Amino acid sequence: MALAVSACSAAAPDAVVSAAEPPSLAAERFPRPQRPVAGIVSDQWANEDSRERAGEAARVIDLLDIRPGMTVADIGAGAGYYVSRLAPRVGPEGRVIAQDIERRTLNRLGQRVLRERLGNVSLVLGEPHDPRLAPRSVDLALLVHMYHEIAQPYGLLINLVPAMRLNGRVAILDVDGPVLAHGTPRALLSCELAAVGYREVAWHWIEGRSIYLAVFEPPTDPPKPERIAPCGAQ
Ligand SMILES: C[S@@+](CC[C@H](N)C(=O)[O-])C[C@H]1O[C@@H](n2cnc3c(N)ncnc32)[C@H](O)[C@@H]1O
Repeated sequence: MALAVSACSAAAPDAVVSAAEPPSLAAERFPRPQRPVAGIVSDQWANEDSRERAGEAARVIDLLDIRPGMTVADIGAGAGYYVSRLAPRVGPEGRVIAQDIERRTLNRLGQRVLRERLGNVSLVLGEPHDPRLAPRSVDLALLVHMYHEIAQPYGLLINLVPAMRLNGRVAILDVDGPVLAHGTPRALLSCELAAVGYREVAWHWIEGRSIYLAVFEPPTDPPKPERIAPCGAQ
């Protein structure tokens, strides 16, 4: 069951979500992906020091034009490499929703939020098919090095739509490589997003042509789950 997560009993109020959003469309209604899904093996893509040296988060934040006052949902936030860098960028008028499906990961992240005194971060426990985010609450949903781990990509993408604000964007960063090697091939990503009505609005290569940052506009009229035609292995 999805619940809002309290980082610890002494958590500062701003680090805690007070109530989980009710479930959205049920998992059973969505088709399963017709391709492998990578297992969850770690709460971070790579060591933060090496990512910082490469300037990863700064580059992504700039490419996405993330500004003070925005609400950014970091879906699959893991250990919080992005949370820690997004929070100062969106500032006191903005909010970072640090979301994950692993309770232990979120508890650890909650400790980090407290340690770093990030007063504009909320923690949300989602489900593989449902991010469990509040309606019309998100300007940008960011999915970094995790799309290949989503067991129910069609469900997650459809159930994300009501959480997006007008002109909201969904950005996905991943390796352009096989799912079982912790990537999502470009053709597969494009097919699955198109299958649920998302429109690609930007595509950036981050490291040569090995890692991409793809930006999508969510559909205004998403298809009924039963009408989704799943994409095959690409
Ligand atoms: C490889 S880690 C990446 C973490 C972080 N985004 C980063 O860049 O370091 C993938 C994370 O995605 C989470 N995850 C997997 N499937 C998910 C889903 N359906 N919804 C939300 N989070 C998910 C995992 O629990 C894990 O913390």
